[in-house]
Amino acid sequence: MAKSGDPAPVIAIDGPSASGKGTVAQEVARSLGFHYLDSGALYRLVAVAAVRQNVALADEKRLAALAGGLACEFCGDQIRLDGQSVTDAVRSEQAASGASEVAALPQVRRALLERQRAFRRVPGLVADGRDMGSVVFPDAVLKIFLTASPEERANRRYKQLMEKGLRVNLINILRDIEQRDARDIGRPVAPLQVGADAMVVDTTNLTVAEAVARILESYAARQSRQAPSR
Ligand code: CDP
Repeated sequence: MAKSGDPAPVIAIDGPSASGKGTVAQEVARSLGFHYLDSGALYRLVAVAAVRQNVALADEKRLAALAGGLACEFCGDQIRLDGQSVTDAVRSEQAASGASEVAALPQVRRALLERQRAFRRVPGLVADGRDMGSVVFPDAVLKIFLTASPEERANRRYKQLMEKGLRVNLINILRDIEQRDARDIGRPVAPLQVGADAMVVDTTNLTVAEAVARILESYAARQSRQAPSR
């Protein structure tokens, strides 16, 4: 149990694309009554705003200014930018790919840092992304690296997009996922990596409920270890 005056506890859930981070993180947050940060949505928003304002995805200075001034709101599943709903645009594969380009730029990452940290409020936060445990919340009480095989992740993304009524091709999705993995792992700033203090949860053969249960068990075990003995 956190003492009064302690910062709100953070559970950091990092991992590659389509590993189930969003679904699992939201379910963990709901079970604990914690707030939730989808940090990928912020990078996606920068990419969407850039296209709308004709800013090149390589123009680091202007992109950082865009990132610093994003007028966005999160309301449940809905995302608004400058007062307009941009939920579908943000969730598109085009935004995902643009996000992974702008996310490689150090000034953009810096511009989003404090905005991400502002999500940390009592009673706690579950944050999902690539660098939650390594950069944004290095003092997170629990750091999870959620992963699955590239083929399983491509299958999941395929099903998700088909359910949305989109015509997609599994081979292209697998290729996009592998390209995005390579970019996220290979970039010099905040690369996707398994931290020494992170617990790996491979969800290739796990249901969402099983993955959530593992994380909740680890969190409970940590809490009981930290509880003062009488
Ligand atoms: O849903 P999915 O895992 O495919 O993507 P996402 O979490 O929405 O993130 C989109 C892109 O933003 C990723 O490919 C990363 O390049 C980038 N990202 C990042 O660099 N750092 C974060 N904390 C979150 C996302």
